[in-house]
Amino acid sequence: MATGPVITACIIKPNYIQYLTKCAKMAQQIGNGGELILAYSIRRMEKEDIGQVTEIDREAFPSQWPPANYRREMQNKTAHYIVLCDNNKTIDVPPATPPKRSINILSLMMPWTKQKAPEKIPLPHVTRQYIVGFSGIWMIADEAHLTNIAVREQYRGKGLGELLVIATIDLALKFEASFMTLEVRASNLAAQSLYQKYGFTQMGVRRGYYLDNREDAIIMSTESIGSEPFQRQVSELREALKKKLPDVKST
Ligand SMILES: CC(C)(COP(=O)(O)OP(=O)(O)OC[C@H]1O[C@@H](n2cnc3c(N)ncnc32)[C@H](O)[C@@H]1OP(=O)(O)O)[C@@H](O)C(=O)NCCC(=O)NCCS
Repeated sequence: MATGPVITACIIKPNYIQYLTKCAKMAQQIGNGGELILAYSIRRMEKEDIGQVTEIDREAFPSQWPPANYRREMQNKTAHYIVLCDNNKTIDVPPATPPKRSINILSLMMPWTKQKAPEKIPLPHVTRQYIVGFSGIWMIADEAHLTNIAVREQYRGKGLGELLVIATIDLALKFEASFMTLEVRASNLAAQSLYQKYGFTQMGVRRGYYLDNREDAIIMSTESIGSEPFQRQVSELREALKKKLPDVKST
């Protein structure tokens, strides 16, 4: 996992959220826990997601130093993040951008006319999809460097990590990456096993790379992600995952 640096913020579609909420409520009413709608969906990360993504990051990497800064990541033109949502659940979060205060020109020119600042009124929260995992890449020339991938603890072991890896490979291909790289803690055998399953192999070791405990990083890389053997491997894994996770939508 890399430490350090964007993504174009998409406009939230309130109708879509309302639709998902309605579907989730309908499914709950029927009592079959969401069979009426797709259980998970993947989309690009938006500003309003920063709070939830940061929460997942802190849960997955509690000792990480320096902690990842997703607000800064969204300003970084080389960074591209996706989030995985549980469509049966929504959450109320603070709005990403508070409305701008209008400036009273008269009070700037004649400060003695300045009125008392209005009391701060808390802004209404917005209803968002519940994010259960996320991942991201930095595009550096034709290399897609996987910066981070994490799934909420209570959602692990269901194939969602795999789903994020496949979506991240698709994202890298969209940005015309030739290959993918990453760093992973030497002790993180679960993540290494996930990456190996998707064709990442060990290329080297960065001694004492992680600042919190001076742990080594294993450097892993894929072959050409557009190559026929790589694509065949991913498509076989994708088919197997579809059987495990039939209810997934990618947007
Ligand atoms: C790594 C992580 C994203 C995997 O997510 P997940 O949803 O639990 O993984 P999946 O259920 O999709 O499992 C896919 C594969 O990962 C590997 N894996 C997952 N959990 C594992 C575990 N506890 N032990 C060993 N291998 C494991 C296996 O290869 C598994 O394939 P299999 O089912 O054929 O055995 C998740 O454990 C996580 O968020 N960890 C904390 C953050 C982290 O370490 N990220 C990596 C930073 S480099």
